[in-house]
Formats: sequence, structure tokens, C-alpha cells
Amino acid sequence: MAFKVGLLGLGTVGTGTAEILLSPEGRHPLLQELEIYKIGVRSLDKGRTLQIDKNVFTTDLESIVTDPAVDIVVEVIGGLEPARTLILKAIAGGKHVVTANKAVIARYGDEIFTAANEKGVYVLLEAAVGGGIPVIQPLKQSLGANRIQSVTGIVNGTTNYILTRMATEGADFADVLADAQKLGYAEADPTADVDGFDAADKIAILASLAFNGRIKLEQIYREGIRQISAADIAYAERLDFVIKLLAIAKREVTTSANSQPSTQDNLQLRVHPTLVPKTHPLANINGVYNAILIEGEPLGQVMFYGRGAGAGPTASAVVADIMNIAAVLKTETETLPHPLISCSHQHYCTIAPMEEVVSRFYARFLTRDQPGVIGKLGTSFGNHGVSLESIVQTGMRDHLAEIVVVTHDVREGNFRQALEEIRTLDAVDSIPSILRVL
Ligand SMILES: NC(=O)c1ccc[n+]([C@@H]2O[C@H](COP(=O)([O-])OP(=O)(O)OC[C@H]3O[C@@H](n4cnc5c(N)ncnc54)[C@H](OP(=O)(O)O)[C@@H]3O)[C@@H](O)[C@H]2O)c1
Repeated sequence: MAFKVGLLGLGTVGTGTAEILLSPEGRHPLLQELEIYKIGVRSLDKGRTLQIDKNVFTTDLESIVTDPAVDIVVEVIGGLEPARTLILKAIAGGKHVVTANKAVIARYGDEIFTAANEKGVYVLLEAAVGGGIPVIQPLKQSLGANRIQSVTGIVNGTTNYILTRMATEGADFADVLADAQKLGYAEADPTADVDGFDAADKIAILASLAFNGRIKLEQIYREGIRQISAADIAYAERLDFVIKLLAIAKREVTTSANSQPSTQDNLQLRVHPTLVPKTHPLANINGVYNAILIEGEPLGQVMFYGRGAGAGPTASAVVADIMNIAAVLKTETETLPHPLISCSHQHYCTIAPMEEVVSRFYARFLTRDQPGVIGKLGTSFGNHGVSLESIVQTGMRDHLAEIVVVTHDVREGNFRQALEEIRTLDAVDSIPSILRVL
């Protein structure tokens, strides 16, 4: 049985999503049971790269969310309206919904989840925070045993890109922003990103899941990055910090009258540029990458890192949500094991023998101090097609000369044959270490 997907929007994320659904080979088998039934867009005349029957397109998005044949509505049009209304209509029609729309969820999550709970349908939103990074599902499931203490994220790629370039180039905010706009990393109107609105939407969603309560967006403290200057970044650097726009949700631990720490429901919720020590896990998250660091008891720290935007990464999260819903629908109708929880593989994967694996190698040789040793090593490597990236004579150890080589990518079998030959050379005393290089 195929589950019918009604896709609202075929822009960046919609196209990425459709491309995955249309090419299920090599992905989870459940994808083969998903069918793109309808696609809603604003204009039918727009040139589209997607190879799909033209009859699935419509500009009447309401007809998709009210069509009894549609099982899952995927909202990737963005903006507040008509996205909110379409989501609510889909729910009213008993359809499960997947959305990437953080703006709608952060503002109308209350209304949307109340309606979904009444109707007994799911609204999933993995793509709304961190693009392709799985963080919503882990917060709901894998981390469920923890008392979450804090969620700290670099959740806006545009501002992280700008701050990273300011740090590496010593450039000023306005110059980097203008360039980022030219390159398509920042919108023509950058307000949502650079003034922290987007990050606030995202931390509202994460905090709600982490701390099991609803969040009023207007209560989140918010500062953007416009006031950060090249001088601030340079001073931070001298003091061993980097400046990052952090979105922070933290449970406040207060001390009670009897001096015992007590965990209350009080939350800190804030988005602001922050000096982050260079040794902190978030300090090395650069460019358009996102990361979310979660601290929980008893787990401690766990960090999720990856591409927070773009067609492929975001679609990866959207499709994961669609599959989660399909799995629920499947277990409702069939008495089969849950397709995403069970493990029902039958065949064995073919594993490449180690001698076929290609990688770089580091090898350290101890050789007798004879003329022409390096040349002999080079010849033996060359005889087996091993080319060297670097070769260094590091000094003497126990009256033996120490030579270190790093190879280019080579088939392990060839490298080993070269070593066999090298071991027979008179000049070579021993090979104390051989390591693979990433
Ligand atoms: N882009 C990312 O990397 C990314 C990452 C994470 C989350 N998101 C979220 O994903 C959502 C979609 O973003 P996107 O970048 O894919 O947007 P996009 O490229 O602008 O695409 C929007 C699509 O929706 C259609 N559309 C918009 N308004 C419509 C209306 N009123 N009626 C009918 N169709 C309408 C457009 O139709 P036409 O094609 O006919 O114009 C277009 O196909 C947003 O909520 C965004 O915040 C995006």
C-alpha cells in the first residue's frame, strides 16, 4: 500500500524532498511506499527541474489539504499565511502534517498542537530547527530519560557565516553582510537572521520540547549581531574567545532557604552574541554549519552538528518525518513489526577486504646511516604504485636514522607489498610504526 503525500511548496526544500521521494533506491525500504500525489505551488508556469507528471501540480493548495485521498500533508511554502491556515485545515481533515516552518510553529504551535491532539494526528517538524540535523526527534525520544539542564545552539547559519568571516578576515559586519547577500547566504532583508528572530523561533521550539512546556515567543530575550565590530572580534581573539550568536535555554537552579539546590521550572531563554572560550565545543562550529549542545542528567553533554539549511539537508529531515508518520500508519493497518524500530534485514552486506581499502599511510622507519636510503625507500614504494606525499628524516635514535613518510591515497594491498620489499633492504633496521591517515 502506498501512502499519499500532498506536498505544499516546491521551492528549495520542496524540490529536495520530492527528489528523495522519487529516488528511493539505497535508502530505507519504507520510502518505496510513499507516493507524491499532489504538489501545490503559486505558479504553474515556473520552469521546474523535477521530473514528474505535470498533472500532480495545482495552485489550489486547499484542494490538497481537504482531499480525502491524501494521507500526509507536507508544508514547505514558508511564511505565516496561508501556511498556518493550511496546516489547521489539514489537521481538521484528519491528516498528519510535516512542516519545516519554524515561524509558524513558534507563533502558532499552541493552536496547531491543540488541534492535532484533538484530532489524533501528528505534526512533525524535524526540519524546522537545525535543517538536516536530527535534534527534535532525539529530544522527544532518545534523550527522554534525562532531566535536561540546558540547550545551547548555533542555530542560524547566516549569522554564523558572517561572524566566521569577520573572524577570519578581520572584516566589518556591513561588508561581510553585503558580500553574503551577493553570494546568497543572506536574504535581501536580513532582519530575521541578523537580529536574532530566526534563532529565537528555533530556541522556542527546542525549549518547549526540552522542558515540556509551551513558550511565549515574546518572552525570549533577543539581541542580534549588527553591533559586533571587527575590533570586538579581535579583542575576543586575543583573550582566547570567539564570538557566536547563541540561542540558550537553561533551567535555573535556585538555592532554597535550607541552602539545598532545588530545580524549579524557571527558564532562562535568550538569544545574543556571546564570547565563547576557544576550548568550548561550540567554538569551532564555523560557516553555515549549525550545532546544538544539550546537557542532561544523567547523560551530560551531547552535541548535534551538521548543515542547518539547504535543499538536501533540510529535505533529509522532512523525509524522515514523513517516514515516521508512514510507519505509524503502517502499524495501524498491518500487524507487522514497526518498520523504523524493528530490525528485519535478511541479507548480509558485502564488506570490502582490508587490502582493497584505499587510504593514506604514515610509516616510521629506523634505518642504518647509509647513503641513498631515502632513494631506496622511494624506489620500493614506486615499484608498488605508492606515491609519497612527504618524507622527512627526523634525526638519529639508537645510532639509527629515523625516517617518516606519509603516502598519498593508496590501496592497502599495494602499500603492504611495498613494505614487504622495504623490510628486505639491508639499510632498513625496523618499521616501528604504521598508521592510517584520514
Ligand atoms: N531553504 C532552507 O534551507 C530551509 C531550511 C530549513 C527550513 N526551511 C523552511 O522551509 C520552508 C520552505 O522554504 P524554502 O526555502 O523551500 O522556500 P522557497 O524556496 O521560497 O519555496 C516556497 C515554495 O512554496 C510555494 N508557495 C509559497 N507561497 C505560496 C502560496 N501562497 N501559494 C502556493 N504556493 C506557495 C512556492 O511556489 P512557486 O514555486 O510557484 O513560487 C514555492 O514552490 C520555510 O518555512 C523555511 O523556513 C528552509
